[in-house]
Amino acid sequence: MHSDVKLKPLKIGNVTVDFPVILAPMAGYTDVVMRTLARRYHCGMAYTEVTSAEGLVRGSKQTLHMLETAPGEWPIAAHIYGANPDILAQAAVFLERTGRFQTIDLNCGCPVAKVVAKGAGAALMKHPEKIAQIIRAIKQAVALPVTVKTRLGLSPDRANISEIAHAVEESGGSAIAIHARFVTGRHTGQADWPALARIKSECSIPVIGNGGVLSAEDVLRMVTETGVDGVMIGKAAVGNPWIFQEAWSVMHGYRSQPPSMQERRSVIEEHLRLLIVHKERAGKSRRHPQNSAELSAVLHFRAHLVGYIRGFKKSAEVRRTLQDMRRVADVMAAVNGLQAGETRSCG
Ligand SMILES: Cc1cc2nc3c(=O)[nH]c(=O)nc-3n(C[C@H](O)[C@H](O)[C@H](O)COP(=O)(O)O)c2cc1C
Repeated sequence: MHSDVKLKPLKIGNVTVDFPVILAPMAGYTDVVMRTLARRYHCGMAYTEVTSAEGLVRGSKQTLHMLETAPGEWPIAAHIYGANPDILAQAAVFLERTGRFQTIDLNCGCPVAKVVAKGAGAALMKHPEKIAQIIRAIKQAVALPVTVKTRLGLSPDRANISEIAHAVEESGGSAIAIHARFVTGRHTGQADWPALARIKSECSIPVIGNGGVLSAEDVLRMVTETGVDGVMIGKAAVGNPWIFQEAWSVMHGYRSQPPSMQERRSVIEEHLRLLIVHKERAGKSRRHPQNSAELSAVLHFRAHLVGYIRGFKKSAEVRRTLQDMRRVADVMAAVNGLQAGETRSCG
């Protein structure tokens, strides 16, 4: 597909994202390993997993481990949740001092009960003025740009994204990422791109569009149909770092080749090896202290593997054996059984 549509470098405060096709924050997925691989394939920016501001301020070892970054990983958003402006500001100060993050992003969309019960995540969407208060508190404490990731509203009858975007803008937020679904829609169902186009036309700060991007062509389509300043990809990037390279090619007017089986196998193995190192650095798991780093990595990797094998004819067969995988060798044996030449149905 030839493209005349250009995705310009995105300015988030003083940070420039040269290629604004961005890896979405996904709890349990977007750790340093997934981000490192995405980055290798042209991902322009990534967000950390969602991290508790309270945990950061307490200095919780587990919370700090979640914020591990790779040398040279840039630009990266520290994606945090909380409801107390002071605590969030203190967390932002800590993050700024590490020198490893270029933006602070406030989660305003997480529907998880324990987050919402504290007035954080999706609960903040009910109170745009509280979002503005938090942004002001963080901005007073740090020089890093502050952004928000949110949704269209809690439910179709409570669609208040315009009010939220306005609150982010007037309190000095530098960009807003909008998942074009409601909280009630969780992560599935049709994403409302016309709503993205409407908000983009109302906003003076950059809008990053998110929801329902399944392929590189969808990146182009979202930019064309909505005019957003950046495109954020979630589920379709799981087990598919190549989607960023494909998007880069499409946006530059040509098509990249899908990865060979050999490349796919080698990235899967590298993902596992890097995960083992990441787990070793975490130390013993509190819940399963008897698990080796290799076992923890393989258990964690199974969700990624489902993504890596999506679209292959034998993927159902491999999925049936997931429960028995304990070692890197088990995973690689299953992956080696996938036939070269089989194609993925989608990204
Ligand atoms: C497993 C999973 C975890 C997620 N965790 C977060 C999160 O911690 N913070 C957040 O703002 N969004 C989170 N999301 C939402 C994604 O960032 C994204 O908005 C959503 O998946 C829609 O994009 P997509 O259609 O490209 O997947 C999560 C989504 C999934 C599937």
